[in-house]
Formats: sequence, C-alpha cells, structure tokens
Amino acid sequence: MTATTSRVIAVTGGASGIGFAFSEALAKSGHRVVIADLRGAAEAAERLTAQGLQAIGTQTDVIKPDQVAQMVEQTVKAFGRFDVLVNNAGLFTTLALKPFDQITEAEWMRVMEVNTLGPFVCAKAAVPQMRKNGFGRIVNIASTTPIKGTPNMLHYVASKGAVIAFTRSLARELGKDEITVNAIAPGFTLSDGVLENDLHSKMGDVVRKTSRSLQRDQVPNDLVAALLFLASDGAGFITGQTIAVDGGSVFI
Ligand SMILES: NC(=O)c1ccc[n+]([C@@H]2O[C@H](COP(=O)([O-])OP(=O)(O)OC[C@H]3O[C@@H](n4cnc5c(N)ncnc54)[C@H](O)[C@@H]3O)[C@@H](O)[C@H]2O)c1
Repeated sequence: MTATTSRVIAVTGGASGIGFAFSEALAKSGHRVVIADLRGAAEAAERLTAQGLQAIGTQTDVIKPDQVAQMVEQTVKAFGRFDVLVNNAGLFTTLALKPFDQITEAEWMRVMEVNTLGPFVCAKAAVPQMRKNGFGRIVNIASTTPIKGTPNMLHYVASKGAVIAFTRSLARELGKDEITVNAIAPGFTLSDGVLENDLHSKMGDVVRKTSRSLQRDQVPNDLVAALLFLASDGAGFITGQTIAVDGGSVFI
C-alpha cells in the first residue's frame, strides 16, 4: 500500500526535525526529494545524495512568493515535474509557552504568517504544475493540539486549526484536477527543535503520561508511514482527511 511510482516531492522545512525524517524516508523509498528550508537545505540534501539518494536543497522562505516560485522552478528544472507538496515548515519548537493574554499581536501574526500563509503560498505555486501533470498530492502537517484544545500556545493552536480547515476546503476545490489534499496531525514529537527546548520536552512527559494510549515517546520516524501512504498510488481516492499520528491520544 506504500508508494508504487517514483514521485517528485518537495518538503518545506525539510532540513531538520520531522521534515528531515520525511525527506530521508521519501528518498529511501525511491522518490526524488526537494528540501526547501530557510536554512540548511543544501547540507541536508547532501546528506541524502551521499547515500546515493536523489535530492536537491533550496533555500526558501515559505512566506515569500518569489522564493517559493523559484523553488518550484528549480524542482521542475532538476526533476522535470512537481508531484507532491509537503507543507511541513512551521513555527512551533521555538515558541515560548504562555497564557493567551501574554501573547503579543506581533507574535500572533508571525505564527499565523509562517503556519498558514506559508502553506497557502506554496500551494498556489505548486498547483499549476500539478494541474499540468493531471496528478498532485498536497500533505499539510497540522497538529492534534486544535483537536485537544491545548492551552498556553493559542496562536499556534489556532494556526493548526486553520491548517485542518484549509485542507478540507482546498480538497474540495482541487478534486476536479485529480489533486488530493490531506493533513497529518502529529502528537507531541521529539524533533530536534523540541529536544533543544526544556519546557517543550517537559510537556512531552505530561502528554505521554496523561493522554497517550501507547506509552512511549513519539519520534519523527513515527510519522513517515502516514506520509508515504498519502503519497502512494493507492491513496488516490482519499482527500480532505486529517490523520492523527499520536500514539492514540485523540480519536478523530
Ligand atoms: N514536534 C512536534 O511535537 C510537533 C507536533 C505537531 C505538529 N508539528 C509540526 O510539524 C512540523 C515540523 O515540526 P518540528 O518539530 O520538526 O519543527 P522544527 O522547529 O524542529 O523544524 C521546523 C523546520 O521548518 C523550518 N522553517 C521554519 N520557518 C520556515 C520558513 N518560513 N520557511 C521555510 N522553512 C522554515 C526550520 O528551519 C526547520 O527546519 C511543524 O509544522 C510543526 O508545527 C510538530
């Protein structure tokens, strides 16, 4: 049920954390991968090509339409097409946890910008290529926090709720083009960024002990099977869905 056709797949925020786990797993499954990240994209791609895998890196800020257009152009130049967009770049691990009334308007806007404008800008740039192919997959990385109503990060939770809504409406708009749009909602995951942030790491312990059915830490590799599935030929009739991968913490 996993991938049967080699696809050209761009992963935003693909240079580290969950995004790098996605990039590596996709490349190891025979896909050609474009790592689009603010920093470390070229180095991350080199880590893959050094293993004989197919990847390129492009320094891209997902909220900048000109940089995203360039990323799409570079993808088509390198690999001849653009099949799958993974909207993974997001602000989370660098955010301080705080009550809603201590979040500034500027912090709110910045989180919304990266987490909601970013996927919009990337989808707008990628969809024309997908329409050309008569094939396309968009996978948005949401979160289980809007389903749980997690406190002390209201801007983040609201942004990821928006990602789930975005997924559903865009799926309806793009069905006629044979483009599917789905979301993966990870639970609290020990990504590079989380491991560097003590407060976030402590939160992980609480999540595991209080709400997770499977009583162990969640790691980036726990998420890759859902992405490989959504990119696979067999998942072509699934759209508008959000798949929670969180060890059984929420049930959607
Ligand atoms: N780690 C978790 O517990 C968790 C849980 C649920 C959802 N998520 C989501 O998964 C995704 C990845 O999370 P992570 O924990 O690996 O995060 P991370 O902070 O470790 O990595 C995020 C990556 O995105 C890149 N990035 C940030 N802003 C960007 C921009 N404007 N343009 C391009 N790249 C940009 C960063 O450089 C980094 O490589 C995020 O969308 C996050 O919200 C994470």
